[in-house]
Amino acid sequence: DLSVSWLGVNMENPLYNASGVMCRSREELDAVAASAAGALITKSCTLLPREGNPEPRYAKAPHGSINSMGLPNAGYQYYLDYAKAYDHQGGKPLFVSVSGMSLEDNLEMLAAFRDADLPCLVELNLSCPNLPGKPQIGYDFEASSHVLSEVVKVYHKPFGVKLPPYFDPVHFAEMASVLNSFPSLKYVTCINSVGNGLVIDLDSESVVIKPKGGLGGIGGDYVLPTALANVREFYRLLDDKHVIGCGGVKSGREAFMHILAGATAVQVGTCLYEEGAACFARIRDELAALMQEKGYATLADFRGKLKTM
Ligand code: DHB
Repeated sequence: DLSVSWLGVNMENPLYNASGVMCRSREELDAVAASAAGALITKSCTLLPREGNPEPRYAKAPHGSINSMGLPNAGYQYYLDYAKAYDHQGGKPLFVSVSGMSLEDNLEMLAAFRDADLPCLVELNLSCPNLPGKPQIGYDFEASSHVLSEVVKVYHKPFGVKLPPYFDPVHFAEMASVLNSFPSLKYVTCINSVGNGLVIDLDSESVVIKPKGGLGGIGGDYVLPTALANVREFYRLLDDKHVIGCGGVKSGREAFMHILAGATAVQVGTCLYEEGAACFARIRDELAALMQEKGYATLADFRGKLKTM
């Protein structure tokens, strides 16, 4: 039994797409909905539609991926319309990622989602690394606290945030303390890509993506240990909040590790981009086989039960 129920959301299995991958158009969202995924989440949206950064802006790398998409999306109204037309009763849970270019934009979008009163959960993105000149809010604890205090004034339902990776215990503790002061913040998704890495093609002696001189967010195998550390530390430090794991999941093994570290559910990014929606059935079946091999009947049997020495 791979099912998981959290915040009123019932998932047949814990897997879904990482926001940004296969979720920009209705057709892509429908493809995730039609796959073996346990849920789906939309591309991070902005107030107005955006073309994003110049191409090439995603590249496969030897152990993962690099991207600097620049928030190409159809504008929040498109995803709001998708959510309004969505079969919430019969379909799998739908999440909506919101990533405004300013606090004002975020508040306007959240007010619209609030007024629509749909049974979908918002993932507020505090961690886009790819907008030239715009720092990731999640790396500024005071700014994060300010954004969240304004957000909860307009948005009263349970919601979550997408966090960037942290690399220092002091930063885990500081961010956890900020997040713990917002009771309606019910989940955090760890991690966004490891920002501003550089992949170099040796043969051509060149960068592999065009924006930002080749710098972009890193995903895939490169980020698994960082993702697991972030899931583990926020699982330990947050009061009564769920942690959604994201980073380096390409088989049942990494999905198991995220859940062992404390993840309630697990998102798939780079692997989904490279393999397509068929990855969900494969990873689900591998996770089920691994659990059987280890003698676990449910996810709760091992969630968070990482051993330390
Ligand atoms: C983009 C990348 C991200 O990592 C993110 O959180 C939001 C947007 C992008 O480049 O489109």
